[in-house]
Amino acid sequence: MLTERRTANAAKRAMDRREVLLQAGLALLAALVSGGGLLWAVSAARAGALSVGGITMFAAAVAGVQAALATLAAEVARSHQALLMLDHYLTVTTAEPDLPTAGRPAALPPLRQGIELRDVWFRYSEDHPWVLRGVSLRIPYGTTVALVGLNGAGKSTLVKLLCRFYDPTRGAVLWDGVDIRHVDAAELRRRIGAVFQDYMHYDMTAAENIAMGDLSALDDRRRIELSAGRAGIHDTLAGLPHGYDTLLSRMFLMESDRDDPSTGVVLSGGQWQRLALARAFLRARRDLMILDEPSAGLDAEAEHEIHTALARHRGGRTSLLISHRLGAVREADLIVVLAEGRVVEQGHHTELMAAGGRYARLFSLQAAGYGSEAEGEPAHLGGT
Ligand SMILES: Nc1ncnc2c1ncn2[C@@H]1O[C@H](COP(=O)(O)OP(=O)(O)O)[C@@H](O)[C@H]1O
Ligand SMILES: [Mg+2]
Repeated sequence: MLTERRTANAAKRAMDRREVLLQAGLALLAALVSGGGLLWAVSAARAGALSVGGITMFAAAVAGVQAALATLAAEVARSHQALLMLDHYLTVTTAEPDLPTAGRPAALPPLRQGIELRDVWFRYSEDHPWVLRGVSLRIPYGTTVALVGLNGAGKSTLVKLLCRFYDPTRGAVLWDGVDIRHVDAAELRRRIGAVFQDYMHYDMTAAENIAMGDLSALDDRRRIELSAGRAGIHDTLAGLPHGYDTLLSRMFLMESDRDDPSTGVVLSGGQWQRLALARAFLRARRDLMILDEPSAGLDAEAEHEIHTALARHRGGRTSLLISHRLGAVREADLIVVLAEGRVVEQGHHTELMAAGGRYARLFSLQAAGYGSEAEGEPAHLGGT
């Protein structure tokens, strides 16, 4: 960091030096012009060609012209800067989609059979290592599939592929047998409800932050409150200085508002987590529900309560659940263990426990951790 800092400082110093030289040169030139002019005017007055009033006029005119020129130069510089900004704006607004779009997108009917990953290989770029190495996986319609694995196993990456934030490098993701590359990405995402591990905090009001899950609910306060209630955050939000209209950010505060909590509040990590859940509950009727570590920021009791609510809510829906607490996924219809970008085990909880493999080992480890919680942190599986 220090090296970077010094490089930046050196560049800035060189720039300052150039500016000083240039400014000094220009100031000198201006002084020569106006000084020379004044000398001429004085000698002209002496010769009787110019009156004293003429000299005064001349001095005022020179000052006026100089000021006008300086303003002109400053305005040209400002326009230049504004145009540079506009360049960025144009680059963003005219950017091509970064995923190839289907010429005529295939229709995307409501999910009936299930979602399938077929031999999916993925890396973030050619310079990055493979994250997924031939993952094949089925999420049958109406079932809950749980995905577990250590940090960096590729769970969240798999979620991004399901939402088509990226396309698989090799292999395909199929929705009822249709490759999701052939359907309209916006249409696909409309059918998915998701809690992402790195969900967004928006500098907006509580109600708006929840409505981000489904903008059609923006003016429907009842729907927003209902999903907040299911996520267990209604009482907190209703109790804020301006209730649901409280700004969840201190970003727009003036120095004088600093101590006035009614202008904006900061929620805790766990409260934000619940808010992200409320956002997903707003999309409850979607075909596929994705929950990536939905209880990561919560304490054990809150976590249990959330998972009970989620299980009730998931009933009969197609969902993918990722959690580092294996206790939360044992009821899933299918548990898939991901390790180093590969599916290494899958089955029901009892089958996996009987098999005595990786899942069984980690589950026992966590169970033991819970048993002796007083002595230390329970063992975790995954979590980034
Ligand atoms: N945007 C990204 N660019 C490059 N590498 C990434 C990116 N996101 C995740 N990774 C890498 O991909 C691997 C899998 O990450 P992730 O899918 O988040 O794992 P998990 O959710 O199972 O903990 C990690 O090695 C991580 O460093
Ligand atoms: Mg993750």
